[in-house]
Amino acid sequence: MTDPTPRVPPPLIIPSVLPADFARLGDEIRDLCDAGVDRIQWDVMDGVFVPNLTFGPDMIAAAQQYSRVAFEAHLMVANPDELLSRYADAGCELIIVHAEACPHLHRTLARIRDLGVRSGVALNPHTPAGLVEHVLTETDLILAMTVNPGFGGQKYIPAVETKVAQLRRMIDESGLPIELEVDGGITAATISGAAAAGADAFISGSWMYAHPDGKAAAVKELRAAVDAVRNEVAA
Ligand code: DX5
Repeated sequence: MTDPTPRVPPPLIIPSVLPADFARLGDEIRDLCDAGVDRIQWDVMDGVFVPNLTFGPDMIAAAQQYSRVAFEAHLMVANPDELLSRYADAGCELIIVHAEACPHLHRTLARIRDLGVRSGVALNPHTPAGLVEHVLTETDLILAMTVNPGFGGQKYIPAVETKVAQLRRMIDESGLPIELEVDGGITAATISGAAAAGADAFISGSWMYAHPDGKAAAVKELRAAVDAVRNEVAA
């Protein structure tokens, strides 16, 4: 007897490496895996698209040996097309580009897939959901930024939740297996609003690293908060 209720995939809890101790990156990656995270996100910043400057592909390649989970690269860069193959070669299994930095977004997403990795597109808080309406067939993930990109530790922007709900409707109507991810200011308190709006993948940085009981407890608390919202919605 098949179960009539649609299977809702478990929430994906994904740390950003941004708050890590860069002098102990290998240990930090191992700790994140031990904490039970689903993937690890590298916030790649070029000092042009956003004011900060962070990880090159060689750092990510060097960290691979310490990880038991997949890496995703969030390219907050002005010219992502020039960097795609570098981050794919560094072992990133998912590459996320910003719609705001891609004049030929459809082609860029197709190129990411041609490299044999999954494609993702990110939208800054001000960018409307409609910008990805015609590229749903080319993307495996949509990332709705819940802060203005560039730095960790910023305040969650609740107004983005209406966009998350729009994106959830677009994805559901398309019938495509697209992950809906949020990133920025995600804590045990703010994750509930994002989950209720329809997000299924959650990036957490500063809150997870600062959790008084450690990263494993933080992961558990985030998962429990999403499950509570989903049970409420299902009831
Ligand atoms: C912003 C970064 C941050 C980071 C998460 O460009 O993308 O959102 O990943 O940082 P927290 O969880 O500290 O807001």
